[in-house]
Amino acid sequence: MSLKGKDILSAFDFEREDLERLFKLADQLRTEISERGVLDYAKGKIMLTAFFEPSTRTKLSFQFAMEKLGGRVINFDVSTSSVLKGESDVDTMKILDGYDPDVIVIRQKIPFFPHRVKDIVKAPIINAGDGPNEHPTQALLDLYTIWRELGKIDGLKIGIMGDLKYGRTPSSLSYMLTRFNNVTIYYIAPEQIQIRDEILEKIEGKVKYVKVGRPEDVIEELDVLYVTRLQKERFSNPEEYERLKGAYKIDKEFLSKFKHIPIIMHPLPRVWELDPSVDELPQAKYFEQARNGMFARAALIKEVLGI
Ligand code: NCD
Repeated sequence: MSLKGKDILSAFDFEREDLERLFKLADQLRTEISERGVLDYAKGKIMLTAFFEPSTRTKLSFQFAMEKLGGRVINFDVSTSSVLKGESDVDTMKILDGYDPDVIVIRQKIPFFPHRVKDIVKAPIINAGDGPNEHPTQALLDLYTIWRELGKIDGLKIGIMGDLKYGRTPSSLSYMLTRFNNVTIYYIAPEQIQIRDEILEKIEGKVKYVKVGRPEDVIEELDVLYVTRLQKERFSNPEEYERLKGAYKIDKEFLSKFKHIPIIMHPLPRVWELDPSVDELPQAKYFEQARNGMFARAALIKEVLGI
């Protein structure tokens, strides 16, 4: 089964076989792009990127992926658009879809916005982050990175640390991990920013999980440590953000006290939670992870476009 013409709204939209096929396709495209630069699979196709929230990696890696596939990209720039005159985001999406893009990549601060517009627009939609809800293509590149680094996902023990309450990468990553066998997730965070119950309800019985307060409680068990930043923009109380700021920080000295963790990841951007001193360690994979995003997204675009 291919994902041709499908909307990609949630990490649950991928079955295990889809993921394994996309990982292999991403590797194949990586080789083809390194040999030939720009390919011609997407010749004549247009991707629209509509980002209503800030982004560096997600937007640019989608755009680079489409260009490397030989397609074209039109970017909707909210900061110079009629949204500033009060036009609604839904109207904006209808107008943009009327120009007949072949695929729309959308980021929104409103949770479930892509789900709301999917039946209004004709083009397939890829959710590039909807508020604190989900970020399915980030999970795709996260698991692609783990698959490349460790050769498997089944049986791994994965620590997801940081802002599990407001972050959208921990939820999508958790959902995608339910597609694999015998995985254990350790949610590492102080109680105030622990994983939301609505997320746990969706994974209950499908993957093992344990909540822990501090990284030192579990660090020696882990195959992967996945660090995330506090989502400052989603805190209604700035004092709470300041209070939690000191709650956790990973640096080289801290890591040196424990058994070697095979890989350390971060969706980026990092702020203060992952110290640059970690960058020199061979298990620091976050910059590679960001680069992998381009290949994983190229594979996804290729499938959704059916090219
Ligand atoms: C993440 C996001 O936007 O949710 N960034 C990304 O896409 N790589 C993580 C974050 O902003 O903390």
